[in-house]
Amino acid sequence: MAYAGITGWGKCLPHGVLTNADLASFLDTSDDWIVSRTGIGSRRIADCLLADMAEVAAARALACAGLEAADLDLIVFGTTTHDDQCPNMASGLQARLGAGPCAALDLNTACTSFLYGLSAATALIRTGVVRNALVVGAERISPYMDWDDRNVSVLFGDGAAAVILQATEQEEGVLLEKLGCYGDAREILRIHGIGGAYVHSGRLAGVTEWQFEGQEIFKKAVTGMGLACEDVLSRAGIQTQDIDLVVPHQANLRIIEAVAKRAGIEMDRVFVNVHRYGNMSAATVPVALCEALEAGRIKPHATLLMPAFGGGLTFCAHLVRWGSRTTPIETSDKELASPERSALDIVLDYRRARERGVS
Ligand code: UT7
Repeated sequence: MAYAGITGWGKCLPHGVLTNADLASFLDTSDDWIVSRTGIGSRRIADCLLADMAEVAAARALACAGLEAADLDLIVFGTTTHDDQCPNMASGLQARLGAGPCAALDLNTACTSFLYGLSAATALIRTGVVRNALVVGAERISPYMDWDDRNVSVLFGDGAAAVILQATEQEEGVLLEKLGCYGDAREILRIHGIGGAYVHSGRLAGVTEWQFEGQEIFKKAVTGMGLACEDVLSRAGIQTQDIDLVVPHQANLRIIEAVAKRAGIEMDRVFVNVHRYGNMSAATVPVALCEALEAGRIKPHATLLMPAFGGGLTFCAHLVRWGSRTTPIETSDKELASPERSALDIVLDYRRARERGVS
C-alpha cells in the first residue's frame, strides 16, 4: 500500500508582534502572570485575511516540495476562523494558487484541524484516490477575540502553515494515529457569536463572547493527549525512547510539560515555540514542524509524535516517520504585504469596533 510522505512545508506568521506588555497596557494582567501560567511571551496579530497567510504558507510548501500548484489533487484547509463559510477556504486557496480543478475541502476540529486534515489527506493518498495533497493549518483568531476578557485574550495568536503530502512506497508520513473527541465536554470551550446560533441567542452579529473553563480544558487536554499517545505507541509497538522528537499542539507550556511527563519523555525531546506565538489553534503544529526543521531538530528518517487537543473537545496523536530530505528543494519569494498598523493598534481597533457593536 502507498504511504503519504511529507515532502514540503512552509509557514507564514503575520509581522505584527503583540507582547505581554502591550496587553498589560489595556488589560488587568502582567508579563509575570502570563509567563508563569502559560509560558507565552508574545503572539502575532494579522493585518490581512486568513487567505493571505494561507496562500504564502502554501506557496512556500509547494516550492519546498519542488511541485507546481497544478500538480495538486487535493487541498485540505484546517481552520475555525474562516474568512468565508461559503464558498469555503480551500476553493479560494485553489484559485489563488492556480491549482484547479483539484478537490478542495475545509475541515474544522478547532486546534486539531491540521492533524485531522493530515489524517484525511493521508487516507485519501493511501487508498489511491489522490497522489499529491496540500494540508493547511491556519487561523486568524484576533477579530473574534474578546480583547477585554483576560482569561482568553492573553492565550491566542494568528498564523498559518502548510505541508505537502505525496504518495510513496517508502514507509513515511503518518504511520498511525488516534483521533478522538469528548463531545460531552464541548461546552467548556465555546465562542458565542460565530456561526448562526447567535441569531437564537439575541446576541449582536459578530460580537463574540468566550465561554471558557481553563482548568477543565487543561485536565481534559492532558488526559486526551496522554491516552492518544499511549494508544499509538502501544499499537505501533514503539517505546517512548524510540521517539526522536515530540511536536505537540502549543497551547500552554504547562500542558506540554504534563503530557511529556505522562508519556515519560524528557523535555529535550519536545519542540516548544509557544513562548513566541501563543496558541494559534490549527496553525500551531504545522508552524512548530516548520521551525523544528529550520532548527535542525528533525533528522532524516526521524520518528515524530504529534499530540494535540482543541474545542469539541477533540484530541489526537499522530506517529510520523520523516523522509530522507529535511531541507527545501526550492524557496518561494511570496510574502505578506507590510502591515499598515502595529499589532497593538489592530487590537485597539477591534476593541473600539466591539464597543460600537461590530467586530
Ligand atoms: O486549544 C484550547 C485552548 N485552551 C487552553 O489551552 C486552556 C487550558 N487552560 C490553561 O491554559 C489554564 O487553565 C489558564 C492559563 C487558562 C489559566 O491558568 P490557571 O493556572 O488554571 O489559572 P486560574 O484559572 O486558576 O486563575 C487563577 C487566577 C484567577 O484569579 P482568582 O480568581 O484566583 O482571584 C483569575 O481571575 O488568575 C486570574 N487570571 C488572570 N490574572 C492575570 C486569569 N487570567 C488572568 C490574566 N492575568 N490574564
